[in-house]
Amino acid sequence: MTNVTQIIIDTDPGQDDAAAIMLALASPELDILGITTVAGNVPVELTARNARIVCELCGRKDIKVFAGADRPLCRQLFTAEYIHGKTGLDGAELFMPSLPLQEKHATDFIVDTLMGNPMHTVTICTLAPLTNVAMALQARPSIAGRIRQIVMMGGGFSEGGNVTPAAEFNMFVDPEAAEIVLHAGVPITMMPLDVTHQLLTTSERLDRIAAIGHPAGRALAGMLRFFERYDIAKYGSEGAPLHDPSVIAWLLKPELFSGRHCNVEVETRSELTRGMTVVDWWRVSGRPHNAYVVRSVDTRGFFDLFTERLARLAA
Ligand code: BDR
Ligand code: CA
Repeated sequence: MTNVTQIIIDTDPGQDDAAAIMLALASPELDILGITTVAGNVPVELTARNARIVCELCGRKDIKVFAGADRPLCRQLFTAEYIHGKTGLDGAELFMPSLPLQEKHATDFIVDTLMGNPMHTVTICTLAPLTNVAMALQARPSIAGRIRQIVMMGGGFSEGGNVTPAAEFNMFVDPEAAEIVLHAGVPITMMPLDVTHQLLTTSERLDRIAAIGHPAGRALAGMLRFFERYDIAKYGSEGAPLHDPSVIAWLLKPELFSGRHCNVEVETRSELTRGMTVVDWWRVSGRPHNAYVVRSVDTRGFFDLFTERLARLAA
C-alpha cells in the first residue's frame, strides 16, 4: 500500500493510550514499527504489560513492544493510579499476555530504528512523559535530523493544567525530557489539553464503541467507563477527555484539526508551575517556532473516525 506512515508509539497505557493504540492498529495507513513504553500513568512494568494486552486484545501478536525508562530523567516518578486505577487499565478483564516483551531497551529501539530507516520516514507518536524520546536524543543526537516528525499529546494553553493548575500530566512528570524534545529541532505537532478537552467520552459515544461487539471494543468501553468517573467528578462534564487518540487521528485525518506554528517552552525550574507549557500563540516573544500547536478539532468527525476504525478490528 502506498502512503503508509511508519510510526513508533511511545506510551504509558493508560485507558486513553489503549484507545490510541487500538486506533492505530485498526488503520492500514499506519505501519507500527514498535511500541515503546515508559513509566507514567503507572510504573513501566505495568505499561509494558498493558501495551501487550492491548495488542493481544486486537489479535496483533506480531507487534513488538519494548520497555523503557522506569523513571523521569532527574525526578521521582509521579503516577496517576488515582485516574487509571491500580493496573493502569482498570475497567477491563486483564490477563497475562503471551506476546513476549522484546529484550532491547526502548531507547535503543528508537535509535536503531531511526538509524536503520531512510531519513524522514519515521514518525514518533508520544502519548506519555517524554523520557524515552529524550534519552534516545541524548544517546544519539543525530537521530533528530532523521525523525519525520513527533506528534505529541501534552501541554496546555488556555486550558491550563490537569495535574496542577499550570501543568498537564505528561509535561509535569518529566519536564526536563520535554525541554530536550522541544529544543531538538525536530518538527513537532502538539495536542494540548485545549484539544483533548473537546473529545469527551459521552455515554452515547461509549455505547457506540460497546456496540461494535468484538472483545477489543467491549474491553475498551469497559476501560473508558472506569476512566471517565474521575474526570466527570472533577469537571462536572459528560465524560472524560479522550486525550491520546488525538495523536493518531491527526496522522489519519489532519483536516479534522487546526492550529498554528509557534514557540513552546516548558517550565523546569519553578515548583509552582513545573511542567507548564508556555505557548506563544500570538508570536510576541520572537522565539523560534518549534511546534505546530493544535487548538481545535471537529469532535463529531473525530468520533466517527474513531468508531469506524475500531469496528474494522473485528473484520
Ligand atoms: C495525559 O496524561 C495521561 O494520564 C493520559 O494517558 C494522557 O497521555 C493527559 O494529560
Ligand atoms: Ca498516556
